[in-house]
Amino acid sequence: MAIRILMVCLGNICRSPLAEGILRSKLGSEHILVDSAGTGGYHVGGRPDSRSIETALKYGIDISGQRCRKFSIHDFSNFDLIYAMDRQNYMDIISLARSEEEAGKVKLLMEGVQEGILEIPDPYYGGEDGFEKVYQLIDLACNHITGIIKNP
Ligand code: 4NP
Repeated sequence: MAIRILMVCLGNICRSPLAEGILRSKLGSEHILVDSAGTGGYHVGGRPDSRSIETALKYGIDISGQRCRKFSIHDFSNFDLIYAMDRQNYMDIISLARSEEEAGKVKLLMEGVQEGILEIPDPYYGGEDGFEKVYQLIDLACNHITGIIKNP
């Protein structure tokens, strides 16, 4: 059965749409169901940030069809793993968990991927180069996840 993975950031327009698109590009639908959401509701219904769309396109990944949604407590039952981009996202999700089992599904995306890096920095208020850096970090994390799923 496909593993269900949810990528979560604050706005669901910069980091988590990239994470959704990158992971989907690495694993077929027989292996995963992947979605993304934001802990904040500022951009619900909107497209990913144009800088995320352009950065993904540079690598042949089209994320323009994604639409922003807010994280919901139903996501705890609808997904097996919930990856937070940074510590604040992690704590915001954990604060909504109603059991140890739900809390146990939440991980930091960068945990165990590269020594000394635990967070994907928020690129929203930065320049274009922030999105490239974010892309590369998420790509590393998604290679890590892909390795685990293919060789459990
Ligand atoms: P994201 O970036 O969490 O990577 O989607 C942000 C996007 C929008 C806002 C904050 C972070 N905002 O405050 O509107």
